Amino acid sequence: MLLDAGHEVVVLDDLRTGHRVALAPDATHVDLPVHEAAQVLTREAGFDGVLHFAALIAAGESMVKPELYWHNNTVGSLALIDAVRAAGIPRLVFSSTAAVYGNPTELPIPETAVKAPTNTYGATKLAVDMALTSEAIGHGLAAVSLRYFNVAGAHLTDDVALGERHDPETHLIPIALDVAAGRREKLQLFGDDYPTVDGTCVRDYIHVADLARAHLLALDAATAAQHRVYNLGNGNGFTNRQVVDVVREVTGHPLPVEMAPRREGDPAELVASSRLAREELGWVPQKPTLHDMVGDAWTFYRTHITDQA
Ligand SMILES: NC(=O)c1ccc[n+]([C@@H]2O[C@H](COP(=O)([O-])OP(=O)(O)OC[C@H]3O[C@@H](n4cnc5c(N)ncnc54)[C@H](O)[C@@H]3O)[C@@H](O)[C@H]2O)c1
Repeated sequence: MLLDAGHEVVVLDDLRTGHRVALAPDATHVDLPVHEAAQVLTREAGFDGVLHFAALIAAGESMVKPELYWHNNTVGSLALIDAVRAAGIPRLVFSSTAAVYGNPTELPIPETAVKAPTNTYGATKLAVDMALTSEAIGHGLAAVSLRYFNVAGAHLTDDVALGERHDPETHLIPIALDVAAGRREKLQLFGDDYPTVDGTCVRDYIHVADLARAHLLALDAATAAQHRVYNLGNGNGFTNRQVVDVVREVTGHPLPVEMAPRREGDPAELVASSRLAREELGWVPQKPTLHDMVGDAWTFYRTHITDQA
């Protein structure tokens, strides 16, 4: 989308969890850890903005290998912020997360809600959010944190097909699609005794193309010496069972489900208030329904998931 909007793009990614096939041919790829971003972000290179996505994202793993998450997500981000400052780059947009809120005290969750992450992953991201606030105040950075809720779907155009490929996969929709494709026997749902309409957890899903569009709007809205923070979700919650029903409908597969005990630290309900992103960024999700998201994810799965790279 940046390339389509006329930007020159450099992708700094050491592909520790990423995929070479996802790199746009018209972007320059630099194979380096984010900790070494200063090698690329020189004054001479003349960058006018940084979008910072690099992170490890598995909440469960972050509880057993916390040092890995602090080093990668927080130390790496601090090194990036140092490099941005040294090179005089004016804008930075950061991938924050709903995980910074922990168990929400209000629903839908506004950006001002209490931040109390229940896992190390969320804590490493909250620390970066706080560093960005300081950087905006102390050094005038135009910073934006986008707090994603559950990202889903796939970005599909005539030339591009970008979908979800985590290894190991921990996200509900791609795991359900694995079952539909015959790669897993059944789907486990964790907990059916939550105080929700059908007892399973409620989550807010956002289509990856809507998420990407929000980044372009955030780059334009970034303002010197301000740290703006926006939640990105649809404001609609869906229970795990409702997601499973949509996957059944889209794939035509009966999708056997096995109930498992609750997982430690899983809040009953996470739903975003994205009023601020709509009002201040002019962001309007174009693919807000679960059918849109599961439909695109399934198209990507059927056409691309076999040629993993
Ligand atoms: N997927 C979601 O539902 C979700 C929700 C909330 C927030 N986020 C955030 O969005 C961002 C992207 O997540 P994703 O789901 O695309 O995960 P991903 O693992 O597919 O992408 C992360 C990318 O960062 C790269 N990377 C990680 N550490 C690096 C390092 N130290 N140096 C260089 N490159 C590094 C990986 O190789 C990978 O390409 C992350 O910051 C994540 O915290 C994702």
